[in-house]
Amino acid sequence: MTLPASVTLYEVGPRDGLQNELATVATEVKVALIEKLAAAGLPFVEATSFVSAKWVPQMGDNAEVMARLNRRAGVHYPVLTPNLKGAEAALQANADTWAIFAAASEAFSQKNINCSIAESIARFKPVIDLAQAHHIPVRGYVSCVVGCPYEGEIAPRKVAHVTQALLELGVYEVSLGDTVGVGAPNKIAAMLDAVLKIARADQLAIHCHDTYGQALVNIHEALRHGVAVVDASVAGLGGCPYAAGAAGNVATEDVLYMLNGLGIHTGVDLPAVVKAAWYIADTLKRPPASKVARAMKDKVINQET
Ligand code: HMG
Ligand code: MG
Repeated sequence: MTLPASVTLYEVGPRDGLQNELATVATEVKVALIEKLAAAGLPFVEATSFVSAKWVPQMGDNAEVMARLNRRAGVHYPVLTPNLKGAEAALQANADTWAIFAAASEAFSQKNINCSIAESIARFKPVIDLAQAHHIPVRGYVSCVVGCPYEGEIAPRKVAHVTQALLELGVYEVSLGDTVGVGAPNKIAAMLDAVLKIARADQLAIHCHDTYGQALVNIHEALRHGVAVVDASVAGLGGCPYAAGAAGNVATEDVLYMLNGLGIHTGVDLPAVVKAAWYIADTLKRPPASKVARAMKDKVINQET
């Protein structure tokens, strides 16, 4: 199978990454990070989530982040909207893209959003209706597409089923999440073979956490299946508060290095992403999880000073 000529990188660090930090991250740091990522050429920078601050305290400054952000033309700043309350707040904050999130595992759905898969689809309907009334595109996520921290292995047909339900609701794209990073290329291939029976490749994105170091090879497998939207998190930030032990997403700079090497166009500037990775790493006082950020530090940071 041929690889796509170009790939859209969808940055999730400020949301998926920072939602999981134990220490409070200042709003101005979040805003500065989002602005650096947008300036690096990333076309989507997921900025925050309009979820309950009791459930995810790190996203409690959602409205403030959106208000302070200096938005660049042509860049989208999606936000998570789990229910109508979140959607109304996202509308108020003038968010240009929303994202609803479901799971292929019943147990994960309960832990993450406090309802069953079927209930979550029903809950998303008024979110989609509100979005459509305001011409706001909505992305869908499916978590646990190969494995679940509570249920173990997840059958590909379950992923196809939830993906279909989200597409029927009206999302423009479904991001397939290996939430706990347990996938290997054969599992990703089996999952995608099932999903591609009900969806086109251009309706899909891949979202890999890197717990077992398999994210890049899993993404490569998804590219081979025609998927051309890749989620990633600067410096490999993150995890999921409801998936204990899950590491951060694959690092944006690691994916970008691979795509550059493959000659796949992204429009994103690698040194600028590496600088953003070191900015947030220095602020959080720990090195980036990414090998590329560490390998390029001397070139892009030290030689500047
Ligand atoms: P619930 O408790 O079932 O909701 O939570 P409820 O409707 O019964 O409301 C309970 C309280 O929450 C009420 O407040 C509501 O007002 C409030 P109280 O009366 O007790 O003071 N509330 C809200 N507050 C702010 N914003 C809202 C909102 N909704 C209700 N939108 C809910 C349901 C979905 C809200 C909750 O379970 C929640 O916030 N979950 C967040 C989960 C989350 O953010 N997880 C991480 C993101 S998903 C992820 O990381 C995976 C992904 O990266 C892909 C992958 O890797 O697989 C996307
Ligand atoms: Mg995630």
